[in-house]
Amino acid sequence: MDIANFGVEEWLNVWENDAIYDIAGSSIASFTLDEIIRIDGKTTPEAFFAELLKTKMNYGWIEGSPSFKEEVSRLYQTVPPENILQTNGATGANFLALYALIEPNDHVIAMHPSYQQLYDIPKSLGAEVSFWEIDENNDWLPHLADLKELIRPNTKMICLNNANNPTGTILDEAMLKEIVTLAQEVGAYILVDEVYAPLEEGMVVPSIVDLYDKGIATNSLSKTYSVPGVRVGWTASNHQIADIFRKYRDYTMICAGVFDDYLAVHTLKNKEAVLARNRKIVQDNLAILTAWIAAEPLVSLVLPKHVSTSFIKLDIPMDVEEFCIKLLKDTGVLLVPGTRFDVPGHARLGYCAHTDTLKNGLAKLSEYLRQFDV
Ligand SMILES: Cc1ncc(COP(=O)(O)O)c(C=O)c1O
Repeated sequence: MDIANFGVEEWLNVWENDAIYDIAGSSIASFTLDEIIRIDGKTTPEAFFAELLKTKMNYGWIEGSPSFKEEVSRLYQTVPPENILQTNGATGANFLALYALIEPNDHVIAMHPSYQQLYDIPKSLGAEVSFWEIDENNDWLPHLADLKELIRPNTKMICLNNANNPTGTILDEAMLKEIVTLAQEVGAYILVDEVYAPLEEGMVVPSIVDLYDKGIATNSLSKTYSVPGVRVGWTASNHQIADIFRKYRDYTMICAGVFDDYLAVHTLKNKEAVLARNRKIVQDNLAILTAWIAAEPLVSLVLPKHVSTSFIKLDIPMDVEEFCIKLLKDTGVLLVPGTRFDVPGHARLGYCAHTDTLKNGLAKLSEYLRQFDV
């Protein structure tokens, strides 16, 4: 089984530790363990660990604890706890869904660019993958007409990332419903990686699993919830699909770990406090980013929809990968070059870093860009 190198992960593995101003990541500033334990304003680390110390370090709950499944189920309108399966992050959830459902010679349509798993895993499993391109001139949204052209009677799955990494843009409910109608006609699954939620009061994008019987949602605590270190994600689907996943899951993981489940439940139980903290970071940092873009002549941006990733366009006469390496070495600012998403001339800017890191990173980036002024 051959598979392409994972562009973004490879870049971050090589360069992340050299960054002083890391504005490359797509999570909202991660919690420390102390912060997430105290998020409810009453649990102390002492009380948290006192409970945990009594817990047996066996395999725990194989599919995720009942509390975990209950909490995750509440995130959806139509998914009972038994249809939730815990995974090693959304990475594990995407892998599980694709490994369980995709066979050689299947036809798969994948939103592009997005998270590379969603097209290169199906390819590695022998599927023919067609790209449904997002269009910068259309606010980084794809065109429905293109999907109509791509879809075939044997299309097995449509893979989406909503909100989209790297652009932070969103397929809204109307668009999702149109996609469902097309998928329904050929009986295709729709897999949606939903790790990024728009964090704006009142703005809710429905989950695919609540719109379509053959919809599969993957998600995790890494982005919207700011706890990537816990390595807990999940799949949400109908019962029949969950049963298919169970078979394949037994070969790829046993459980996510007793400690991880415990912290995941604590995080989900306190999701309102987590989301309130994160809404403020997104709002404050988006205002900083917007003001910076307005004042920076060599950069333009389709503003992300209160989602924690953005994709800037750089008007410079230099290969963007070379620029990003030089920028890091000379200033300590880390971006992800757009080449890692097959889009030259752009870079992912993770504006939901800690606010000081963002402010300093943007100031250094602007200073560095002045070498290109004419
Ligand atoms: C769209 C998308 N899905 C999944 C992941 C990985 O998530 P996790 O940390 O839950 O494995 C990322 C990380 O960047 C991502 O951008």
